[in-house]
Amino acid sequence: MALPANLPPWFKKAFPTGLKNWFGRLLICVIGRILRIIVRFWKSFRIPGTRLVVVTGFDLVQEVFSRWDAFPVPHDSKTDALRWEPPFLLSRRDLNDEYVAMRGNTREIFAEGLMEDLSAISLQAFQARLPSAGVDGADFDLMWDYTYPAFLQIIRNFYGLNLPEDEDTETGFVCALLVISGFFFGKAHRAEAPQHVLQAYRYARNIIEVRVEHWKTNTGAQGAMARAVAKNALGVDDLTSYFLGMTLGFVPTSGNAHGRIFDTLFKRTDAMEWARRYVGGADDDRALDAELLSVLHESLRMNYILPGLWRTAPQSARLGRGLDVEREIRAGDTLLASTMAGMYDPARHDEPRQFRPDRSYWGYLNFGHQMHYCVGWDMANTIMLESFRPLIRRNFIRKPHTRSKWRGEFPWVIKAHLPGN
Ligand code: HEM
Repeated sequence: MALPANLPPWFKKAFPTGLKNWFGRLLICVIGRILRIIVRFWKSFRIPGTRLVVVTGFDLVQEVFSRWDAFPVPHDSKTDALRWEPPFLLSRRDLNDEYVAMRGNTREIFAEGLMEDLSAISLQAFQARLPSAGVDGADFDLMWDYTYPAFLQIIRNFYGLNLPEDEDTETGFVCALLVISGFFFGKAHRAEAPQHVLQAYRYARNIIEVRVEHWKTNTGAQGAMARAVAKNALGVDDLTSYFLGMTLGFVPTSGNAHGRIFDTLFKRTDAMEWARRYVGGADDDRALDAELLSVLHESLRMNYILPGLWRTAPQSARLGRGLDVEREIRAGDTLLASTMAGMYDPARHDEPRQFRPDRSYWGYLNFGHQMHYCVGWDMANTIMLESFRPLIRRNFIRKPHTRSKWRGEFPWVIKAHLPGN
């Protein structure tokens, strides 16, 4: 799977190239930088003349996430616009029995006690995509030659979803997931989904639905699909929703995180030095994984996947009660809880601009906090370790004289070089 030559028209509409892309990227970068400066002075602020409150302080961001009843997610507007039925976890506003059951099922089907299997499957998927040993100075694209194709292989082998193997469909599937993810995280509320987003949604959903229907009526299901089918209470619509949610939660988000971490390691020699300390003598030497993971999380903290996460305020409320940063939230306000700024809050982190993988685990918001905390956190960690260990062991560097290319908020092309491979 190489960099796609023929992108689907709905993808080009969602992520245009040229000046539009350039200005879009500039805006995202500028917003991120401004938020990380503002958090030094203000822990929350209202954009004047709007109903938008931006929350930057670490403690306040955590408070917004933990008061899920006062500040629910707005994503049901998006699942409604897409007619995604039954809607998956992230759009559920209440911590009710239905949400708890769905979350429990998701953990049972996809994650619980399965990380050793996932490690083995992931390592094989990533190793198979490295340029072959002995190819002098092999160059390759970290996103389209390595990360995305390995992700699809993990979906085949661990999820048990037999995705088509032809390049156009593989590309189309990844592109569709990027479009839908951009739709979910781009704006807080959506009354309607634009045509190109609906097309992308139908494309991805159809691929999953066809396979779920097949497995539901035939024996031989494997991996997560077999565990899901064994739960007889789950019909085709439920299963499609689970697999679509866990694919959408996986590919764009982990892909984005991979791109950010690649960039941090390439830009900061201290980060790469730390990483090199924590890989052992073989691709499957996992003795130093806890330390390596802390380097990857610190790299992500320094270059987070998005400025923040959306929440709403159906009723008026006070944020930061009892603290010296109390703020009035009005009924109908939208909140941007900036995980990116929160992880740069000097009240939480000494010298937030320093690369320090020995920071406390509790200083990270990479996977959110409390209700909606990433249901795939251990899968994401497992996959990242298996992906980065072989690259770091082979001393991967950025291909000289190249820069990362982006499409909107997503890493697009990041060329790497394996010196003396
Ligand atoms: C490094 C990669 C990842 C990062 C940084 C990440 C980050 C996050 C964050 C911040 C949230 C909370 C969203 C919110 O509170 O509004 C979340 C939720 C979620 N993530 Fe992840 N994620 C990653 C990988 C994954 C993977 C691999 C999966 C699935 C296999 C996944 C599935 C989900 C789902 C389904 C939710 C919604 C959970 C709920 O609402 O209860 N994520 N993720």
